[in-house]
Amino acid sequence: MRLQRDEWLSQVMRREVYRAVLPPGPPGNVQPLTADALVTVAGGKDAFFYAKLPADNIGISLRLQEAGFYTVEGSLIFERPVKPALRAVKTAVAVRQAASSDKEQVLDIAGRCFTRTRFYMDPNIPHEVAAEIKRQWAANYFSGARGERIYSAHLSGRCVGFLAALGGADKDGRKVRCIDLVGVDPDFQGKGAGRELVRQYIADAIGRYDLLRLGTQLCNVPAARLYLATGFKIADSQWVLHAHVRSGKVVR
Ligand SMILES: CC(C)(COP(=O)(O)OP(=O)(O)OC[C@H]1O[C@@H](n2cnc3c(N)ncnc32)[C@H](O)[C@@H]1OP(=O)(O)O)[C@@H](O)C(=O)NCCC(=O)NCCS
Repeated sequence: MRLQRDEWLSQVMRREVYRAVLPPGPPGNVQPLTADALVTVAGGKDAFFYAKLPADNIGISLRLQEAGFYTVEGSLIFERPVKPALRAVKTAVAVRQAASSDKEQVLDIAGRCFTRTRFYMDPNIPHEVAAEIKRQWAANYFSGARGERIYSAHLSGRCVGFLAALGGADKDGRKVRCIDLVGVDPDFQGKGAGRELVRQYIADAIGRYDLLRLGTQLCNVPAARLYLATGFKIADSQWVLHAHVRSGKVVR
């Protein structure tokens, strides 16, 4: 496996971050990483490593566990053709493209709502760091550093949720629009904001994209049900593994 430095996460997590990437070709030929290799790459500093593996590749997952990686998340990938549009339902939630005046509320929600993601679930990552990763991720949409568009959902004059959309990927000649982040303020969940955000995201994709795609955690039943209820189907699955090197050792 190849280690690829993750510049953005290294900066947000204030340690060296690397993604372990499977080379193309048959999985049986993959040279897995060892604990010694992780310590060497860390070079005396604290370092964090992650890998996203096809869920049916148990062999490589076991070898990474021998090197000190552990599974933090099962991911489900959902896909949906752009059409049909989602039926509008009567709702008090209004969704629009987020304005810069929504930024602070969106970042506040991003820092509080993603409690089922891999950064939050990993006992070796403090919750403050997990929150900061999502805050800065959402902030990139306001600075123009990432993504295609960010939507905000409003209820009684207050911003209660957001959806960040990534565009431009290509799958088998089809133009793909991804949901990068979607989150609703925990105090306002279950009131239709998530559905209305997804409805607007689908409506805006018509004529511009062919395929819609996103990933969520196996343990994130509310999100999986939202996607199933809005016409998405499961398309793929992955294991996500983490490893940490601290003071020259792989720690668990
Ligand atoms: C997933 C999330 C965005 C849903 O937003 P929401 O505003 O609460 O959802 P809605 O009220 O629009 O509900 C839409 C559908 O989602 C599903 N759903 C929402 N909350 C649910 C829950 N607690 N349990 C089961 N299903 C749920 C249902 O299918 C629901 O439709 P129904 O009410 O007709 O059954 C919200 O729970 C959230 O922000 N979670 C934390 C952040 C997160 O994990 N985001 C996804 C990361 S991939």
